Amino acid sequence: MNFPLDKFKKAETPFYYYDLALLQRTIDAVKEAAHDYRVHYAIKANANPTILERIALNGFGADCVSGGEVQAAIDAGIAPEKIVFAGVGKTDSEIALALKYKIGCFNCESLPELEAIDEIAGKIGHTAHVAIRVNPNIDAHTHHYITTGLAENKFGISMEQLPQVVDAAQRLKNIEVVGLHFHIGSQILDFEPFEALCNRINDLQDLYANELSLQMINVGGGLGINYNDPDYDSIPDFEQYFSIFRRNLKLRTGQSLHFELGRSIVAQCGTLISRVIYVKEGIRKKFVIVDAGMSELLRPALYGAYHQIENLSANSDSTPEMTYDVVGPICESSDVFGNEIKLPLTQRGDIIAFRSAGAYGETMASNYNLRKLNPPIFS
Ligand code: LLP
Repeated sequence: MNFPLDKFKKAETPFYYYDLALLQRTIDAVKEAAHDYRVHYAIKANANPTILERIALNGFGADCVSGGEVQAAIDAGIAPEKIVFAGVGKTDSEIALALKYKIGCFNCESLPELEAIDEIAGKIGHTAHVAIRVNPNIDAHTHHYITTGLAENKFGISMEQLPQVVDAAQRLKNIEVVGLHFHIGSQILDFEPFEALCNRINDLQDLYANELSLQMINVGGGLGINYNDPDYDSIPDFEQYFSIFRRNLKLRTGQSLHFELGRSIVAQCGTLISRVIYVKEGIRKKFVIVDAGMSELLRPALYGAYHQIENLSANSDSTPEMTYDVVGPICESSDVFGNEIKLPLTQRGDIIAFRSAGAYGETMASNYNLRKLNPPIFS
């Protein structure tokens, strides 16, 4: 990626930099590969208004998990009927807000939630469209914090309990079950679990052929990206991803297929930019201490995630490669971006980039230690 280094040098760090041209190329690739499939961008990955507006302009819907995200989708100009609302703990006021906007669908995760939606919808004389989130018991082979499809966890309804929930849902007057929803995890690079998901859905559709008339199937998100080599793989292979579903999923006549992609759309266009405060010589280690920390990019500290680290100031051709631990300024030992990272000779004041940070970077930032994240820069 070509970074506007002169601009960065004049700016206060840390901040997020977004390459909107790359975002647009990624969106175009999704549109080209998705054809008639409906894509609801998962706002939790990045809720920056400029990015959301770009998503809206391209006709994508939104996948939201809070009233705040529903409002952000509406504010960005996303059509209400293209909004789906998931989450295990929707509050009454969030449900009321979503009903007020007449969103497309609630992805429901429990019986008490279905009952709450029914009651609130009844009070305002609406019929709420819902998809039941089924836990398909598929191991996505990803980090255990972001795998969600296994049998017993807080998400969704197990396949064993599904008949009972379907039965109960059909007795509720103010909701209409229009679909089934699934999401097996995030940062999935192996396509086999998606194929297993298709087979599971085919079985379920056969099983409930008489009980449910399903207008839609929502398979969630989860497509991973290449954190190790962002320049080589700046746009994920959406063709291959969607073709898994095209080949394996047996949709019924008139059924629409929905996706909730987050990371794969926005991760590579975002970079966290920071400055080196000090280079500290330890006994055996050298530490590069930067002015960004886990408060701006939590993924390394929380998941041990790797983001490629680049020194944009150093001339990599003429300076020697050194080995550093790259760390933030936060008072936590887990505030480490990478151990034994090879960088050109690095000095105080150099600009350091943390790549592939467009997804779950800015949205997971906090002001821990009362720190300040500067406004993003867009290209
Ligand atoms: N749909 C549902 C129901 C989800 O729970 C998620 C993500 C998505 C869609 C979007 O998944 P994606 O396409 O972005 O993989 N903070 C973690 C990721 C958490 C993902 C949570 N759910 C990280 O930084 O890796």
